[in-house]
Amino acid sequence: MSISSENATEQDLMSCIVKENLPRHVAITMDGNGRWATRRDLPRTEGHKAGVKSVKSAVELCGELEIMVLTLYAFSSENWKRPALEVNALMNLLLEQLKEETPELNEKNIQLKAIGDLSKLPGKVTRELNRSMKITRNNTGLILNLALSYGGRQEIVRVTQSIANDVNNGKIKIKDINEKLFSKYLYTAGLPDPDLIIRTSGEMRISNFLLWQLAYSEIYVTDTLWPDFSKKEFLLALLSYQKRNRRFGGV
Ligand code: IPE
Ligand code: IPE
Ligand code: MG
Repeated sequence: MSISSENATEQDLMSCIVKENLPRHVAITMDGNGRWATRRDLPRTEGHKAGVKSVKSAVELCGELEIMVLTLYAFSSENWKRPALEVNALMNLLLEQLKEETPELNEKNIQLKAIGDLSKLPGKVTRELNRSMKITRNNTGLILNLALSYGGRQEIVRVTQSIANDVNNGKIKIKDINEKLFSKYLYTAGLPDPDLIIRTSGEMRISNFLLWQLAYSEIYVTDTLWPDFSKKEFLLALLSYQKRNRRFGGV
């Protein structure tokens, strides 16, 4: 079925999804909260609050479609540069959402994971995060992977240090270092690389997200700001993905 995206309903788009051709792993750079708020003469923090419902609908859709992993870029290693007021508001929002949503994540068989330099997060956030991850660790449905205080370069440096350490203490030999071994040292060890990366708010850049893992991911950028990213918008991204011809350097 071919449908024009403006008139299509969520159900119309859903009926076009080919289940066998869905990404196993979707990564999203949830961008544009600040602009969403500024356009409404609201403080930027209101944009972050408004973004929570888009997180919920994205998680719900991935659950419905039985997608294996959803990685959400929620806070970058560079976002610490923002004013303390905004950083605190984001940390408090995260804390509040972890407390509120963990029971429902658990009911929905969702496993929560986190990647990034979690040691930089405030203690109360780390504690709540660890608690939520522990509660949901045996769940077998969607893996909801939060990128928090995450930077791709930092991740690669960290891997390099760990590998150098293991060479030093004789656990591995230099000749054993290859892409497969390297991947085992990443925060995302054990997860497939993202098949699809979505970025909202129209910015055409990577912003230090999953530098190693995105090598062959399909890219989808929408002008829609994150708080307006509905299930319908997500379905449009998935349908765009389903039209791609992934060659991985072949013909
Ligand atoms: C994304 O929205 C959320 C975070 C980076 C935490 P922004 O806050 O970057 O929103 P814009 O890009 O300024 O509009
Ligand atoms: C990327 O967005 C990080 C997150 C969405 C968490 P930014 O708003 O920080 O990226 P830049 O500054 O526009 O590159
Ligand atoms: Mg931004």
